[in-house]
Amino acid sequence: MIDIKDRIVDVVAGKVMSAEAAAEFVHDGDNVGTSGFTPSGYPKAVPLALAEKGKKTPFKINVWTGASVGPEMDTAMTQAGIVDRRMPYQTNNDMRKAINAGQVKYTDLHLSHVAQMTRYGFMANRRDVDVAIVEACKIIDLGEGKVGLIPTTSMGNTSSYVQSAKKVIVEVNVTQPVALEGMHDSYVPLDPPNRGPIPVCAPEDIIGTPYVPVEVEKIVAVVPCDITDKVRPLGAIDEDAQKMGKNLVDFFKAEVAAGRLPKNLLPLQSGVGSVANAVINGLVNSDFEDLTVYTEVIQDGMFDLIDAGKLRVCSGTALSPSPECLKKFYENVDKYKKYIILRPQEVANSPEVARRIGVIAMNTAIEVDIYGNVNSTHICGTKLMNGIGGSGDYARNGFLTVFFTTSLAKGGAISSVVPFCSHVDHTEHDVDVIVSERGVADLRGLSPKERALVIIDKIANPKYQPMLLDYFHRACEACKNSQTPHILSEAFSFHTRFNETGTMEK
Ligand code: COA
Repeated sequence: MIDIKDRIVDVVAGKVMSAEAAAEFVHDGDNVGTSGFTPSGYPKAVPLALAEKGKKTPFKINVWTGASVGPEMDTAMTQAGIVDRRMPYQTNNDMRKAINAGQVKYTDLHLSHVAQMTRYGFMANRRDVDVAIVEACKIIDLGEGKVGLIPTTSMGNTSSYVQSAKKVIVEVNVTQPVALEGMHDSYVPLDPPNRGPIPVCAPEDIIGTPYVPVEVEKIVAVVPCDITDKVRPLGAIDEDAQKMGKNLVDFFKAEVAAGRLPKNLLPLQSGVGSVANAVINGLVNSDFEDLTVYTEVIQDGMFDLIDAGKLRVCSGTALSPSPECLKKFYENVDKYKKYIILRPQEVANSPEVARRIGVIAMNTAIEVDIYGNVNSTHICGTKLMNGIGGSGDYARNGFLTVFFTTSLAKGGAISSVVPFCSHVDHTEHDVDVIVSERGVADLRGLSPKERALVIIDKIANPKYQPMLLDYFHRACEACKNSQTPHILSEAFSFHTRFNETGTMEK
């Protein structure tokens, strides 16, 4: 068995066992709350053992994570058919297919809500976490029958799941350096009516403990693990992404010049995916300095900002680097640790904190409509892509809310600007600015009809601009210039044409 004796304390030494033995603590119908947020810091050995167990004796569990996790969970457990319900976010092909085939019931939640919703008993079976399975790099003794779990490359919902669970299984992962200790800030707010303010007033504020406390008697198994985080490569920074980055930087410069943003901006939040990462790269090459980040995932662009000496502090809930960037991080943990704070997603994504510190929320859209509604989650209105993630937490509460999209998708067969979004995640009321490779649509203070003209002019691709303008003008006429003109029978015509012919073009 993998040697973990230097990473654990005596009080839990008697609980060390194999993943297969630990999997026996999980039963049919259980709510299983795990660590992990993006393919970082999720348990690996026990989920693989659960999948194997399920192949021999079928059973179903509800899988609650921080957000997306790695293939040892979403691929292995989906293929073994042991997942009944999944929440709150995923990015895995097998899981996506199972959700879109109706085999897994998926609840797509704002990520800041998850921990409290489970504590309140709001989930489908109205029960809290039965078993928490969490990854740690080290277990320390806190005395008085308690130990502290040192998390690894993410915090996610670990603190709350461990606090509420009846049983806790800890995977001690020897591929995660013990030097990670000191990078986390564990904190679980009290629930109403006893909740007070979450006392984060600046991105660098530390409000909790560098470990997740847990009663020794709740720990049923400590499992040695040597499986690495399966982080994913990011898409190359192409010409469109470079243009979006430049458009954003120019917009920020104008806002600073007008006195609406301070010289070092406000705490930046930047979403998941290749586009968001590429846009952050635009800031690496800008003149902005002394930046701060209050975000959810810390992707490569943030590490580049640290390397460029432009970042003062980077607060998030998970590292989500590419494989090369993870290697760079592991080789320089002590350097990066000075800048990075990993918090529970309940705090990192807290609407209260986002509003107080004034984050600049920057997320990616699948499509936007002419009035400024944003679809981040569904393809052609019906098929789930990933989920809303934290985008709503920040978009609804940011100082300034920006969405990115390229003007075209799928080689031009799809216009990212449509008459009406086929699914709405962020309403026109929450969207301040849209940026594409073509330009910036500053929607602040505009009426819907004014917004439509700006979005079509600045964001839509010339290939689709005439069709969008034609729709808008005919809608204005048909609705006698009403507040938000639509021709309801045509509002989804771009999508139906794509479904029928393979392109939105006429
Ligand atoms: N119609 C159909 N497909 C579209 C599309 C559209 N209008 N726009 C994009 N796509 C497809 C792309 O073609 C690509 O498909 P592929 O994987 O087959 O190549 C895929 O969606 C991803 O798009 P990409 O342009 O590579 O962007 P991305 O990696 O930055 O991801 C989102 C974009 C919207 C899917 C992603 O940001 C997301 O899931 N967001 C929601 C959650 C969120 O915002 N979290 C942030 C909080 S911190």
